[in-house]
Amino acid sequence: MTLLIRGGTVVDANRSYRADVLCDGGTIIAIGDALSAPPGSEIVDAGGQYVMPGGIDPHTHMELPFMGTVASDDFYTGTAAGLAGGTTSIIDFVIPSPQQSLLEAFQAWRGWAEKAASDYGFHVAVTWWDESVSREMGTLVQQHGVSSFKHFMAYKNAIMADDEILVNSFARSLELGALPTVHAENGELVFKLQRDLLARGLTGPEAHPLSRPPEVEAEAANRAMRIAEVLGVPVYIVHVSAKDALDAIARARGEGQRVYAEVLAGHLVIDDSVYRDTDWGRAAAHVMSPPFRSREHQDALWQGLQAGHLHTTATDHCCFCADQKAMGRDDFTKIPNGCAGIEDRMSILWHHGVNTGRLTPSEFVRVTSTNAAQIFNLYPRKGAVAVGADADLVVWDPQATRTISASTHHQRIDFNVFEGMTVQGVATHTVARGKLVWVNGDLRAQRGAGRYLPRPADAAYFAAGKLMNQRKVVQAVERAAG
Ligand code: URP
Ligand code: ZN
Ligand code: ZN
Repeated sequence: MTLLIRGGTVVDANRSYRADVLCDGGTIIAIGDALSAPPGSEIVDAGGQYVMPGGIDPHTHMELPFMGTVASDDFYTGTAAGLAGGTTSIIDFVIPSPQQSLLEAFQAWRGWAEKAASDYGFHVAVTWWDESVSREMGTLVQQHGVSSFKHFMAYKNAIMADDEILVNSFARSLELGALPTVHAENGELVFKLQRDLLARGLTGPEAHPLSRPPEVEAEAANRAMRIAEVLGVPVYIVHVSAKDALDAIARARGEGQRVYAEVLAGHLVIDDSVYRDTDWGRAAAHVMSPPFRSREHQDALWQGLQAGHLHTTATDHCCFCADQKAMGRDDFTKIPNGCAGIEDRMSILWHHGVNTGRLTPSEFVRVTSTNAAQIFNLYPRKGAVAVGADADLVVWDPQATRTISASTHHQRIDFNVFEGMTVQGVATHTVARGKLVWVNGDLRAQRGAGRYLPRPADAAYFAAGKLMNQRKVVQAVERAAG
């Protein structure tokens, strides 16, 4: 089916310009003035609207088995909700249990994801270490197109990666040309603070942020970056929430280290007062890690995004309904960690970013799709409005408004952390692989229409990383020799 998007303003990472966009066979086949389409084609009138790359959410957890339960949005419902908000690709996480084969876990996640309505790729977590893990990382990179590995520095006694795992896995990533990524929180400190708070009788959600203060995040972010620096490997820090961690990132980047970082839509606009809600269920619904922070951190995160120290925006979409959150009724450490967001990320970033003048429309495109596509090797197939790119597009009405609510969202969760927020800037149409899947409020997501996205390793980045490291070693030796 041919699709013509007519009369809109195309926005890509570099510029905005008036053009029609013609799609056929799942790809963009022409961009230009007054394009015509064969009879029978679908036509979208995009007059007064922007035509942008579909969003890429590089951090989701669909149907994740976690903390004794399973995330309630599955690969179909979660990706369908993403399409309703203009997000056309996700990168989710395979999280093997300690001692589980990485390949076995990867195959399990591939099976679950077959029902996805949008395209998807995977990062694979390294939760333990031995020779077989090292070997399977190679197989994942070389045969399955997995080019990023995740390390949880928190979640002690579950999936936490200690320094031995980090060093081995970062070094192996460098050999393979894969990108190590980290959830940066010092899990030992979190564990101790949790025990101390419980011992003092603090059992409710208000204790959650107290157990994970900004210093805990900054320490881990800094440690991960220093390990990466010594090994000469680039590193990507997920869900940066604290000014302290951001400062460490800015320092490392200022010293020439190749560090990439991500911020969540939620961390940009929600503050920690949510944990003081006297309604237990409402407070627990916000329990995620790292936690929501005080206002000063949000201001710093926006500045980090504007300054280019934060590159991608994500959601960490990981839904747990009220009955699941209730597992931690008497002990906040047992509340499943995670919040939703995939449906609302694009509107949140537009409303609070573009409408406030913090971001230009092209900068919006960079932080919602292009940068993720480039960092995770999906570009220019994704993250671009270009001939030959996948026809994953969003037609965006910058005047339209909507009020976010759990009563109208498509995510399979009974709570929305952005409840009641009216946002200006709305996806009127979403196109996934050339098909109209969201048309003025009509969700036409198709179960199983999404395709797996192999992401080749990038030799060039890593060659540069190695050279940078060699240069630093030579400089250090020269300094020592006087
Ligand atoms: O609270 C969160 N973020 N849950 C999902 C797992 C993770 O840490 O990313
Ligand atoms: Zn995390
Ligand atoms: Zn996560």
